[in-house]
Amino acid sequence: MYNDWEDLKRDCLECQRCKLCETRNNVVFGVGNKNAEILFIGEGPGENEDLQGEPFVGKGGILLDKMLKAVDLDRNKNIYIANIVKCRPPKNRDPLQDEQDACIGWLENQISLIKPKIIVCLGRIAAMKLIKPDIKITKEHGTFFEKNGVIMMPTLHPAALLRNPSSKPGAFEDFLKLRDKIKEVCDRTY
Ligand code: URA
Repeated sequence: MYNDWEDLKRDCLECQRCKLCETRNNVVFGVGNKNAEILFIGEGPGENEDLQGEPFVGKGGILLDKMLKAVDLDRNKNIYIANIVKCRPPKNRDPLQDEQDACIGWLENQISLIKPKIIVCLGRIAAMKLIKPDIKITKEHGTFFEKNGVIMMPTLHPAALLRNPSSKPGAFEDFLKLRDKIKEVCDRTY
């Protein structure tokens, strides 16, 4: 466990805990305000993220930024964004269980330093890992859970919304619920 964010980041950027290090261009550590009260967690970097070293910078990222803006959130101001795995799985396959297990310590350390009040899980992989393994994201998105004193909400993954635009209104409702929850429990976000 690192107590210093920069030490954590430096060592994470050199990680070789799993095979994904062999094919990555960049470790995608995360982006945003490390003093944020809200942490968004995706699955893992895709091609653009791997090339640029930042989470959610492809088409899904543009949609995510729009949804964030609609509820007065901004990746450069009042949230932090990270992923379950920090290196791109080849051909964008789901990260394997052993890759998730090898990587999760970095995220856990980030969580313990950020101390978020609310964690938003973007998609099934993050929700299964952080909320419960049997989560049904299509049914349970927009529901609040509590784990270790942190409020957790699963929502649909931006890439799923791009594949299936009819899910967008439901996901937008999740963000409105999130805004209400932020107003209730956070005092430094808005
Ligand atoms: N999808 C994710 O889950 N995370 C990213 O950073 C990009 C795409």
